[in-house]
Amino acid sequence: MDKQKQLDTSFFGQPRGLATLFFTEMWERFSYYGMRAILLFYMYYAVSKGGLGMDQATAASIMSIYGSLVYLSGVIGGWLSDRLWGPRKTVFIGGVLIMFGHIALSLPAGTTALYASIILIVIGTRLLKPNVSEMVGGLYSEEDRRRDAGFSMFVFGINFGAAISPIAVPWAANGFGLHLFGNEMNFHAGFSLAAIGMFFGLLQYYIDGKKYLSKDSLYPDDPIDKEDLKPIINWTIVAVVVLAIILGLMGAMGQLNINSIINLITVIAIALPIIYFIMMLNSKKVTKVEKSRVVAYIPLFIAAAIFWAIEESGSVVLALFAAQRTVLHIGGWHFAAANFQTLNPLFIMILTPFFVHLWSHWKNQPSAPGKFAAGLVIVGLSFVWMALPGLIHGTTSGRVSPFWLVGSWFICEIAEMLISPIGLSITTKLAPVAFRSQMMSMWFLADSAGQAVNAQIVKFYTPGTEIQYFLIVGGVAIVFGIVLCFFVKRIHGLMEGVD
Ligand code: GLN
Ligand code: ALA
Repeated sequence: MDKQKQLDTSFFGQPRGLATLFFTEMWERFSYYGMRAILLFYMYYAVSKGGLGMDQATAASIMSIYGSLVYLSGVIGGWLSDRLWGPRKTVFIGGVLIMFGHIALSLPAGTTALYASIILIVIGTRLLKPNVSEMVGGLYSEEDRRRDAGFSMFVFGINFGAAISPIAVPWAANGFGLHLFGNEMNFHAGFSLAAIGMFFGLLQYYIDGKKYLSKDSLYPDDPIDKEDLKPIINWTIVAVVVLAIILGLMGAMGQLNINSIINLITVIAIALPIIYFIMMLNSKKVTKVEKSRVVAYIPLFIAAAIFWAIEESGSVVLALFAAQRTVLHIGGWHFAAANFQTLNPLFIMILTPFFVHLWSHWKNQPSAPGKFAAGLVIVGLSFVWMALPGLIHGTTSGRVSPFWLVGSWFICEIAEMLISPIGLSITTKLAPVAFRSQMMSMWFLADSAGQAVNAQIVKFYTPGTEIQYFLIVGGVAIVFGIVLCFFVKRIHGLMEGVD
């Protein structure tokens, strides 16, 4: 089997199965980021303009809490794959749920469809995303040296999907440039395109997967027996009952509304990583050396959460800046506010080769904590930069050059190169053996916690408050980054030999 894995070089030197997974994830990200590019506007645009007419603060807050939920513990996806369905089926089911999530939004069914769609896409993404990445790893034997290059190509697929959809989906919502909907937006047409993208992804996954993905992926690694299932069912019932009681109490107190639900999720998303850390540090299965590594991981985790808070603001705060404060043409070339979402993945694709080269040639390169500290200062600068147009012009009421946003995303993506890939690899290396499979979801919890905080603060963002908003949030990142600089050596020491 392993020998066969070595021999298959039919996709740019990589196993052919990589192409299947590459396109599955590319289409999934296409649908996700295309939907996100127009969702904010769909929520707060007036009904007469094709939107839902929500107030802007609530719409922004929903964007963030939605993002938080998507990354809030993917453990479920891993568990279903390991114990029940195997990765191949879990991914497929996830993709189907995601597709139906986009279909819900493509129907003119208002807020009910919005919430149904959020639930479907949150669950679907948790089933699909961690397991697709797992399967990429499974294409290579332990000693196969193509593994890193394979993952780089896979990440390129993520960003390629994420880059084309903020062009394609708003274009569909605008009537494909054919004035199909007059001067109105038809957001449902945009969401339909997201659904079609996921459909393509599923189709090729199904057909291609049969030929090129290993048969092992059809079976769970560690199938569950009846004995094990009992406590799990019991715990699920307990969780559902507790949730029902909380929601019931909130209802009885007249507090069951979108804002209180957002607050509840914020608390959970911040509490969960804290509970995880306490569990790992107190577990008997974790050795002393491993505990030291977990302690080293705490400041990195906080840094990552602050980083993701700013990075993920791109589809919320910067999207508002694009719509309200930016000139939407360069000469005769016109574009939509939603199109700016392409800049993040585009810059990642442009910058990746440069950083790959840098890390493989720089002899005395900083350690992971050093890179994190630099990344945090830089991401803070990307926000401070956004305070400049208001400061320079002395007002925040007119529209300014699109190059402000282009510059901000460029700076932010340099920071992303210092944090995202480094964080992914350091997370697996610092993981205690007993928690290895959960540790990857730990990394995503940093993003989730960051967006949970965003859900509370984005409400305060308006053109009138933008200068303070960018300076304060950017300032927090910079200050934390500088403090982290002073602890780089000490954290590196705590990592006990991990580099
Ligand atoms: N943007 C990347 C993706 O969509 C990574 C997100 C993350 O690590 N939180 O896959
Ligand atoms: N920034 C998103 C991700 O890292 C697009 O790929």
